[in-house]
Parts: sequence; C-alpha cells; structure tokens
Amino acid sequence: MVSNRRKLQRILLVVVVVSSGLAGSWALLAVNRVLQASVAETPATFDQGLNRLETGAPRHWTNQWCGTCHKQAYTEWQASRHFVAGTNENFQAQCLDAGGGRQQWCFNCHAPTSPATTLLPLHEPRQLEQLFERPPHWLEQGVGCLSCHVRDGQVLVENVTDKAIAAHPVRRSPELGTAEFCAGCHQFNFKDVLLPDYFHGPFQQASLDEFLDFRHADGFETRCHDCHMPGGSHVMPGGYDNKMLNRALKLELAASWDRGQVEVVVSVSARRVGHKVPGGEFFRSVTLHTWLTDANGGMLQQASIEPSRQVEAVLGEGDASVVSRAVGSNWPRIEIFSRRRGAFDHDLEAPEQLLTDSRLRPGETRQFRYTLRPAADPARFPLQVHAKLWYHVMHSTEAEQFHFSSDAVKWIISSEHRSVDRNAQR
Ligand code: HEC
Ligand code: HEC
Ligand code: HEC
Ligand code: HEC
Ligand code: HEC
Repeated sequence: MVSNRRKLQRILLVVVVVSSGLAGSWALLAVNRVLQASVAETPATFDQGLNRLETGAPRHWTNQWCGTCHKQAYTEWQASRHFVAGTNENFQAQCLDAGGGRQQWCFNCHAPTSPATTLLPLHEPRQLEQLFERPPHWLEQGVGCLSCHVRDGQVLVENVTDKAIAAHPVRRSPELGTAEFCAGCHQFNFKDVLLPDYFHGPFQQASLDEFLDFRHADGFETRCHDCHMPGGSHVMPGGYDNKMLNRALKLELAASWDRGQVEVVVSVSARRVGHKVPGGEFFRSVTLHTWLTDANGGMLQQASIEPSRQVEAVLGEGDASVVSRAVGSNWPRIEIFSRRRGAFDHDLEAPEQLLTDSRLRPGETRQFRYTLRPAADPARFPLQVHAKLWYHVMHSTEAEQFHFSSDAVKWIISSEHRSVDRNAQR
C-alpha cells in the first residue's frame, strides 16, 4: 500500500513539475503537503484476512523489543492463544488440509506479519510444510504486538501521553477499544477457494453479530475487552480456559423418586458471556451427558418411558418465552450445544451440512426433564444420577481425520451427581 502511494506521489509530482515548468520549489512543497494530508492512514482494523497487513515497522521493532519495556503485556501475551495462533497443531493440521489454496488467507489472521508480500488470499505460501517444521519468527509468534499495535511505523495507543511519545512514535487509535477491532479477525463467512475476495454461506465465526444481539438485550456498553481483557490483560482467555468455561456455564442437577420412577431435572445456564456458547469457530461444541448407575456404579441401561422434555428460558427477562419440546427417549442422554448438529454429530453422512444452531444464548437457561423407570432390584439402591458437561474443541470424527487423540480435543467443564433412594420416599 505504502509503495503504491509513494508511486502515485512521484508521478503526480513529475506531472506538476513538467506542466508548471519553472514553478518554484515552494509549489512542489505545497503540492506534496496536500498529497500527504490526503493520504489515508493504514487502518487499525483487520478486513477478514482479505489483505495482508502492513505495519510499516522499522526493522528492529520486534515483539521482543516491545517486551523489553512492556514486560507484563509481553508475559501475558505469551500465555495467550494469539501467541500460538500460527503454531498450534490444530491450526497447522487444518491449514495443510485446506488445500486448493486459501492458506495465505489463513496466515493473514493467524500470523498477520507474514512477509509473503505478493500472494493473494487464495494461494499456498511456498514450502508450507517446511514453514511449519521450522517456523520463522513471524509464524512462531502468531498474532503479536505489531499485528495489533503498529501501523505506518507508529504505535497505536488509546490515549497519547508524553511518556509514550518520548518512547516511540504514536497514533491515537480509539478503534483498539471497540468490538469492531476484534471482529476484523473474529467474524467472517466461509471463503471461496477460487475467488480472492468472495465469501459465501453462513458465518464461520459470528462473534460480532452475536455480541451486538447480546448488547442490545443487555442495554449496557459492554465490550469484548471487559470480559476478555480485564485490567488490560493480554492473556485473552476463551474456550481453552476451563476456569472461564466453568464460570460461564452453570450445571444444576436434581433427582427424585416417585411411584417407581426416577424424575431427573438437569439444567445448564449461560452467564457472564457476550455471545452464544460455545462462541468462536463453528466446529466447537458443548455436550451434556446424563446417566444412571446402581449403588455400586454399575451402568443402568434403561430406556426412558416417555420422551424427555427440553425447556428453554432466558433469565432476567420477565416475559421471556418458555419453550418446551420433546427431545427423544434414548438413554443415557447426550444433549448437544452446537452450531453443527444432526447428521454430523451422529456420524452420518454430509458432515459439511450446517443444521440448526442449538448453542446457548447469553443469559439462557436450558432445562431437560427425564422420566425413567429403572428395573433395578432393591439391592441396587440407592441409584446414582450423574451429569457431566464437556467442552469439545472439535468433533471426534475430525480429530480422527487429523490423527489427534479424541481425549486431547475435549475436557470436562463440570459434573454433578445425586443419589436417589426409593426407601427415602413414600
Ligand atoms: C524503550 C521502551 C519501550 C519500548 C521498546 C516500547 N515501548 Fe511502548 N511505551 C513505552 C513507554 C514509556 C510508554 C508510556 C507509558 C505511560 O504512559 O505510562 C509506552 C506506551 C505504550 C502504549 C500506550 C500505553 C497506555 O497506557 O495507553 C502502547 C500501546 C505501547 N507503548 C505499545 C508498544 C508496542 C506495541 C511496542 C513495540 C512495537 C512498544 N510499545 C515498545 C516504552 C516503550
Ligand atoms: C490481539 C490484539 C493485541 C495484541 C496481540 C497485543 N495487544 Fe496490546 N492491546 C490491545 C488492545 C485492544 C488494547 C486496549 C485494551 C483496552 O481498551 O482495555 C491493548 C492495550 C495495550 C497497552 C496499554 C496498557 C494496558 O495494558 O491497558 C499496552 C502497553 C499494550 N497493549 C502493549 C502490548 C504489547 C507489548 C504486546 C505484545 C507483547 C501487545 N500489546 C499485544 C490489543 C493487542
Ligand atoms: C489479527 C487477528 C486477530 C485480532 C485483531 C484479534 N484476534 Fe483473537 N484470535 C485470533 C486468532 C487467529 C485466534 C485463534 C488462535 C488459535 O489458533 O487458537 C484468536 C483467539 C482468540 C480467543 C480464543 C482464546 C481461547 O482460549 O479459546 C479469544 C478469547 C480472542 N481471540 C479474543 C480477542 C479479542 C477480545 C480481540 C480484540 C481485542 C481479539 N481477539 C483480536 C486472531 C485475532
Ligand atoms: C460478557 C462477557 C463476554 C463478552 C462481552 C464477550 N465474550 Fe467472548 N467469551 C466469554 C466467555 C465466558 C467465553 C467462554 C465460553 C465460550 O467458549 O463460548 C468466551 C469465549 C470466546 C471465544 C472462544 C470461543 C471458543 O469456545 O472457541 C472467543 C473467540 C471470543 N469469546 C471472542 C469474543 C469477541 C470477539 C467478543 C466481542 C465481539 C466477545 N468474545 C465478547 C465472555 C464474553
Ligand atoms: C478472518 C480471520 C481468520 C482467517 C482468515 C482464518 N482464521 Fe482460523 N481462526 C480465527 C479466529 C479469530 C479463531 C479463534 C476462534 C475460536 O477460538 O473459536 C480461529 C481459530 C481457528 C482454529 C482453531 C484453533 C484451535 O486453537 O483450536 C483453526 C484450526 C483455524 N482457525 C484454522 C484456520 C485455517 C486452516 C484457515 C484458512 C483456511 C483459517 N483458520 C483462516 C481467525 C481466522
């Protein structure tokens, strides 16, 4: 971009010189000044990976250099997913798999300081596999200080101070504090493999849309930063942080015995989250497993006697609609909170099919009621009801495809259990 601007300036200057003949140097200066003023600054925001990033940073400006003075931000960033965005196994496997080009597009968001200058976002960078084997700096450090903070050789800051000006050239960029800044990378559609700038279909990631819905309902000026950068922290935790998941998803379980039946009520609520859960990539999911064992932990494989019911309610809104619907009668139950549901999750055909979005909305509580008649002999009481909430980085069939162990791509967010003794009731 910069070089294009310079070229344009030079051409215009030549035109001016030639046409004005003996014009004084003051005229040239004036023209140059007008051109300078009309030259647009490189925007702080990203554009869904369509164009490569130009930071204009001097050579010695590296992430480490920033870190010599900003130690805390540097340490936090090194513990973030942004730091490993270009090197984590999942990204590399899917990037090599993307085929048919597009990899330069991946790099424009996962390692934006990639120097592959001339590649359109539908090319495979040269020697991609070797790059992954021996990652150069720009790849090793994923989304770094320079990616977010440097444009036209200036450090983007929210507030300009004398101390900052003394340390390095700065530019005031209130954009840094907006959801749109994050959304330049965190919201985009599926991209065509043949056309450099053509997106199609539904959102692959819909963070901004979902966030705006949330903020509209919430009525507050909450920002992505308030939840993901508390106190300015650069760790920016999300789905990989189980503490964050645990705080965001509340699991509740109740079970009782009534006239030969076990009544199970299990619910999951989404709290302190600014978008649907799980957010981010369309391949993330959360599952809720509910099952029954006897007193000794032996599994009871018992079909429920009537279809289970699912009840949805949004907390904090008096007139929230409450939906109740039958959700099938197989047992043990697995409920899926996912954007890609149905065929794919049951390992049937058409894995690419996107079906109804069953994720939790911010503030929503979803309750499931199961009624069971276990044929257990009295010695097996008290029965134990178990509920476990799992987070899945990706679906197990995808893990298999990439040769990841299925245990490495999922973990337990929380679990509950209740005992049900039939002697304790009537
Ligand atoms: C030689 C030390 C030094 C280096 C190297 C350095 N900075 Fe700074 N930076 C400072 C100082 C000093 C301030 C002013 C802090 C203040 O106002 O309290 C500052 C301010 C900032 C601010 C604004 C802070 C605020 O509180 O609003 C940002 C953002 C920033 N630097 C980013 C960077 C980035 C990114 C790099 C690397 C490209 C970098 N700095 C390199 C010393 C440095
Ligand atoms: C993913 C984008 C991103 C990356 C990567 C990033 N920053 Fe920031 N940084 C921000 C945003 C956004 C803010 C403003 C935070 C706010 O508004 O609360 C910020 C704020 C800051 C500040 C202001 C003081 C503060 O902590 O609030 C400093 C200093 C800073 N960053 C330095 C760095 C350094 C050094 C690195 C690399 C080690 C870095 N940043 C990497 C996005 C980023
Ligand atoms: C240059 C593009 C870019 C920008 C700008 C950016 N991110 Fe990211 N972010 C990424 C990428 C790429 C990943 C995925 C890293 C990986 O491969 O796991 C990511 C991951 C995350 C995660 C997931 C962490 C986890 O544990 O699952 C969170 C949360 C996040 N970013 C928040 C933010 C916020 C908040 C902002 C704005 C202040 C922001 N990002 C700006 C590219 C960006
Ligand atoms: C009210 C708090 C809140 C706000 C606002 C918020 N988030 Fe989150 N975010 C969370 C919580 C909690 C999680 C962990 C649950 C999950 O994974 O969805 C999360 C998870 C994420 C993840 C990881 C999703 C995954 O599982 O892979 C990304 C990426 C992310 N947020 C980006 C954003 C962006 C971008 C914005 C602003 C447009 C934003 N968030 C606004 C609370 C918030
Ligand atoms: C517009 C920016 C953008 C582009 C382009 C992009 N990604 Fe991402 N990618 C992200 C963000 C942001 C996240 C974090 C979302 C989350 O944590 O759920 C992410 C997450 C991922 C993850 C999950 C990593 C993990 O830690 O589990 C994989 C894998 C991935 N991207 C692969 C790719 C591939 C392959 C391409 C190119 C075909 C690509 N991405 C293109 C922004 C982008």
